[in-house]
Amino acid sequence: MSHRKLFLLPGDGIGPEITAELEKVIAFMNTKADAGFEIEKGLVGGSAYDAHGVAISDDDMARAMAADAVILAAVGGPKWDSVPYDVRPEAGLLRLRKDMQLFANLRPAICYSALAASSSLKPELVEGLDILIVRELTGGVYFGEPKEVIDLENGQQRAIDTQVYDTYEIERIAAVAFELARTRDNRVCSMDKRNVMKSGLFWNQVVNRVHDEKYKDVTLSHMLADAGGMQLVRAPKQFDVIVTDNLFGDLLSDVAAMLTGSLGMLPSASLGAEDPATGKRKAMYEPVHGSAPDIAGQGIANPLAMIASFAMCLRYSFNMIKEAEALDAAIAQVLEDGLRTGDIMAEGCRKVGTAAMGDAVVDAF
Ligand code: NAI
Ligand code: MG
Repeated sequence: MSHRKLFLLPGDGIGPEITAELEKVIAFMNTKADAGFEIEKGLVGGSAYDAHGVAISDDDMARAMAADAVILAAVGGPKWDSVPYDVRPEAGLLRLRKDMQLFANLRPAICYSALAASSSLKPELVEGLDILIVRELTGGVYFGEPKEVIDLENGQQRAIDTQVYDTYEIERIAAVAFELARTRDNRVCSMDKRNVMKSGLFWNQVVNRVHDEKYKDVTLSHMLADAGGMQLVRAPKQFDVIVTDNLFGDLLSDVAAMLTGSLGMLPSASLGAEDPATGKRKAMYEPVHGSAPDIAGQGIANPLAMIASFAMCLRYSFNMIKEAEALDAAIAQVLEDGLRTGDIMAEGCRKVGTAAMGDAVVDAF
């Protein structure tokens, strides 16, 4: 039995409720398929602040670094709105991303046919939708220096953020996008603003070079990021993998998210560099939604995004493709069977709570 080390961070709000359902799935894989997952648990966000006065302790950070994969539910809530800035719940997320150097954020937008009717687009535009947005996560205008507000001599102030990308940052995110495309429909669309940004033109050139050097088998296209936004809501199924920078990726992945109909359904992965010795990447998996404090503790949260995030973990951290596909199929099955948590409830369906939804996924798995 192989040992696969998971570090689980339930976090705040509905986090502990939805991770409990994921633990059922993992326990099932261990007993039925001898999958050998070992779970360690830690604290992050408000729960870590309450226990240790920090957003994540050094001890838990070390355990995150040592694990094969980190799985995080969500952090934050009104209870911690007034804690000092550097120990606010989100600081825990930022430290995990930074220390693990998670530069590639993967946001799939998959539309389950059972939910196509709840998309903000016409069902025929989104039915069968399966696209993957690969967002650069550790560079660009969110981090570039200078980043400041300065006082000018004329009494005005000037705010500055700086878009910065070095060659290697674009090379490695492009490589991740091309590698992933090979496991899918083998198409990448790179989005930038090369018409008005030097860094956009540079992005475009580096992506082209990486493609020509190593990934000629993958079909590469380019789109201006604003036009890409339009195309995402006009005809989203034209895309397979989209690769873009931190800022555009933030916006475009949220646009793509809403095509699928529900926040409670969306998983994500953040990957680091491949260790040349082991071939393994540091990785963290988390649902896109937050801690939903408005429904926490009621047993009604949707655990499917959390479980789908683990399906991504099976795929990208453990290369357990068959198991990942089976878990995704189990999620689709419970939806086909008409089970719905409150957030995705529709006419003619059966409303269930968090635990019943988790049990149903295990049954269908
Ligand atoms: P949210 O995603 O927590 O909730 C938005 C709405 O969607 C709420 O009405 C909530 O009940 C519902 N919702 C979200 N996930 C659901 C689920 N699994 N099942 C059923 N309904 C669900 O976003 P909001 O309200 O803006 O933020 C709440 C807290 O979460 C804040 O403290 C925020 O900072 C934090 N947050 C944390 C994130 C993270 O940990 N990555 C991401 C986004 C927000
Ligand atoms: Mg965002």
